[in-house]
Amino acid sequence: MSNSKKTIFSAVQPSGEITLGNYLGAIKNWVNLQNDYKCIFALADLHTITVRQNPKEFNRRIIELYALFLACGIDPQKSIFFIQSQVHTHANLGWILQCYTQFGELSRMTQFKDKSKKHVDNINAGLFCYPSLMAADILLYNADLVPVGADQKQHLELTRNIAERFNGIYGDTFVIPEPYVAKIGAKVASLQDPTKKMSKSDKNSNACVRMMDDADVIIKKFKRAVTDSNNEVKFRNENTGIDNLIGIYSCITSKSAEEVEKEFEGKGYGDFKKAVGEAVVNELIPIQERFKDYISNEDYLVKCFRKAREEALEISEKTLNEVKTKIGFYL
Ligand code: TRP
Repeated sequence: MSNSKKTIFSAVQPSGEITLGNYLGAIKNWVNLQNDYKCIFALADLHTITVRQNPKEFNRRIIELYALFLACGIDPQKSIFFIQSQVHTHANLGWILQCYTQFGELSRMTQFKDKSKKHVDNINAGLFCYPSLMAADILLYNADLVPVGADQKQHLELTRNIAERFNGIYGDTFVIPEPYVAKIGAKVASLQDPTKKMSKSDKNSNACVRMMDDADVIIKKFKRAVTDSNNEVKFRNENTGIDNLIGIYSCITSKSAEEVEKEFEGKGYGDFKKAVGEAVVNELIPIQERFKDYISNEDYLVKCFRKAREEALEISEKTLNEVKTKIGFYL
């Protein structure tokens, strides 16, 4: 990896099944970024225990997600792809940064407000302090850029504030990270209600395509996708069902909206929905096959994430030691 490349850091939580929305909105982008940046990706499993997890299922989900990311094209030779809880520097810097984060700042985080409404019986301190740990994830690697969705923007803004505050007290220590806005990559909406985000917890099972759905299920879900009454494949930029389908199709085929419009000129929604379904099937089936190979080869997965742990430690321990020295700790 050349040193002139900028560093990108991102992470996802092993908190549930991955959807087509997660894939097109985030994972596919990560895969593409690997060629132009020094990429450091993590499974943020420490963040996940802010909500109670069943140990067996949690344990399984972590390795399955690891395998799925490799199947999607995250290359452990090109990128560092590690599991957060295996790299002790995260919890350590996370604690330190909590002491440089204000109660008021954390109280204003909309995700905390939402989650504490959803989990009224378990509003734990970890849920509250979660953004300080996220700041540690990013700042440990001197990340220049962080690709995040809209729901994490506020946390990245807070990360910048924490980093600037620390630098202000102790002198230049942390790189101030910028949000990375993907050039491509779709914000995928529900197939049943285009005003809503595609979500694995949607009650309507036709609303959401899961990475592991069978080909015929995928085709069926697209056949049933809501459109509008125009019967013309035209991108209106109004969050219509057709806009959503065009977004999905153009993200997978790398065609622009105009090219998609041209391709389906004079054709009806039925043809278009069939084509989108088939494009998704052609994208997901090979991933599913590679996933099956990886998940049946646990030794290989363990080898990959242990190597990544060492690589992540090498970088992050330097940052942690610098921080500790500046504060006055003994190493
Ligand atoms: N909080 C993020 C989410 O739930 C996951 C995450 C943890 C993350 N640490 C991060 C994302 C650092 C970007 C950078 O989606």
